[in-house]
Amino acid sequence: EMLGVDLYQVQTSRPRGEDNMAIKFGRPIELRDTPRRQTDALASPSLDLAIRMRRNRKSEWARRLVRENVLTTDDLIWPMFVVDGHNTRTPVASMPGVDRLTVDQIVRDAERAAKLNIPCIALFPFTEPALRDEQGSEALNPDNLVCQAVRAIKKEFPDIGVLCDVALDPFTSHGHDGLIEDGKILNDETVAVLVKQALTQAEAGCDVIAPSDMMDGRIGAIREALDDNGFGDVQIMSYAAKYASAFYGPFRDAIGSAKTLTGDKRTYQMDSANSDEALREVELDIAEGADMVMVKPGMPYLDIVRRVKDHFAMPTFVYQVSGEYAMIAGAAANGWIDGERAMMESLVGFKRAGADGILTYFAPKAAEKIKAES
Ligand code: PBG
Repeated sequence: EMLGVDLYQVQTSRPRGEDNMAIKFGRPIELRDTPRRQTDALASPSLDLAIRMRRNRKSEWARRLVRENVLTTDDLIWPMFVVDGHNTRTPVASMPGVDRLTVDQIVRDAERAAKLNIPCIALFPFTEPALRDEQGSEALNPDNLVCQAVRAIKKEFPDIGVLCDVALDPFTSHGHDGLIEDGKILNDETVAVLVKQALTQAEAGCDVIAPSDMMDGRIGAIREALDDNGFGDVQIMSYAAKYASAFYGPFRDAIGSAKTLTGDKRTYQMDSANSDEALREVELDIAEGADMVMVKPGMPYLDIVRRVKDHFAMPTFVYQVSGEYAMIAGAAANGWIDGERAMMESLVGFKRAGADGILTYFAPKAAEKIKAES
């Protein structure tokens, strides 16, 4: 199993005799050999119902016919973690099935993505602690891990989309997305650095710039700089409504910022209690030139996805973040839920909420499932 942990395998290899909560795909919930109306207890008059909702659910073909939303491989963006070294895949403990990959291995997974018809991959670096500093200066190194990975992928697979995150947290010694002075995140000074980071990544060949930092005014500043420097075709997907969330925990593990992060990100990421504010954030990013907008995290914020899609009719994306992945993969690995079903149910839920696409660590697994069933 290429992902390291096969959710399905773990699930099916549980000891016999245990209460089997899991339901396999294709296995009907109603047992075929249930006795039919043999006892008086089951005999009762029919209800006089003109409308019976269950008629459209009576069989698989009928359910397919009335299905409102379908997940395809075109909906998937696959986030990957890149680390220094050669020919190595290091598991991320809190994300069973996800590895940090050296550049050569990232190229192999890019190939896997291309074969699975996944349109786009997203790159996040694990920066060596020695290269992290207060200013996050490694972000501007044209030969940093992300830039190396972009060039290596584009060389072999020019037709796959490559998205790069813009924020300083993988590069700062304090783990924040921006510059700090006297314990305060400096907005405008940070934006100036983010602009340079975006240009560095565009120079390396990245297709989509995805600012995840939540500083005010960064979309406009980045758009202007891209246009002024001959990168008019580089798209911007803004993390427009990004909430301060406990669900980013495993990601911070993966990029090695969990231990270094001082305090939290609540002065720049949104308060999870807010919804109207998300519309204002999205509106600003659209006005500043975002081509696509994103809501993050995913499952606790499906209402925001729906409001954003209805309100702006923009290409709207959602990030099923590391903690959401960990909950499903972890529970599945313990045999507590059926991992494959939970994965597919969570992904189609995003589509139902109005998302045009989903960033998800399940991308290869889901794409394989879609491929196998088509
Ligand atoms: C960095 C960034 C984060 C994520 C994507 N970009 C973490 C954070 O804001 O702390 C989270 C992704 C995930 O949890 O899967 N700004």
